[in-house]
Amino acid sequence: MRSSILDLLRSAGAEYISGEEIASRLGVSRTAVWKHIRELREAGYDIVSHSRSGYSLREAPDRLLPNEVQHGLMTKYIGKKIVYYEEINSTNIEAKKLAAEGAPEGTVVVSEAQNTGRGRMERGFFSPKGKGIWFSVILRPDFLPQEAPKCTLLAAVSVARAMKKFGLKAGIKWPNDILYEGKKLVGILTEMNAEMDRINYIVIGTGINVNI
Ligand code: BTN
Repeated sequence: MRSSILDLLRSAGAEYISGEEIASRLGVSRTAVWKHIRELREAGYDIVSHSRSGYSLREAPDRLLPNEVQHGLMTKYIGKKIVYYEEINSTNIEAKKLAAEGAPEGTVVVSEAQNTGRGRMERGFFSPKGKGIWFSVILRPDFLPQEAPKCTLLAAVSVARAMKKFGLKAGIKWPNDILYEGKKLVGILTEMNAEMDRINYIVIGTGINVNI
């Protein structure tokens, strides 16, 4: 319901949309709309209201909320399901747990902070709140386990391309790191659960330092 309300507010742009209209379009009462708007405000959405005109969305919170991430996402299956945490030990640990429990391919685990972020070779990975994008993607590819390393390369190219769209010329230090002006900006940790001839799941964990 909350995401449907957000969709309506977004489609109204800078215009107001009345509580009555939201209620009738979503088939709920005006009181229910009002309660959801209150919850959205508590979650950090800046929604202004006007007694006669209704509601208008001014600003979304600067957080990796599923609705914000999914808004505009044009992928076939990656990110169709997003599991969000304010804080977690490690998104890779959680993604592996979910994958073992049968989570669908493309599930993304994202957290504002990790208290035991993991890097390669058993190293830690500093992941404080508000300083980066820490996330893991579950894949269930139909190729042999020995081909799995290409997933890391794929992830590195994807992140580098995304950064390029924002005007950041990133360089890939094959296979796991992305550098920006000579400094490591992104680390990737790929983990796999497989049998000899079959991959059960792969988890690609990516840490993008943003404000560090
Ligand atoms: C490295 O540079 O050694 C790899 C770092 C990988 C960090 C990411 S952050 C999201 C995901 N969760 C983790 O615990 N690690 C990866």
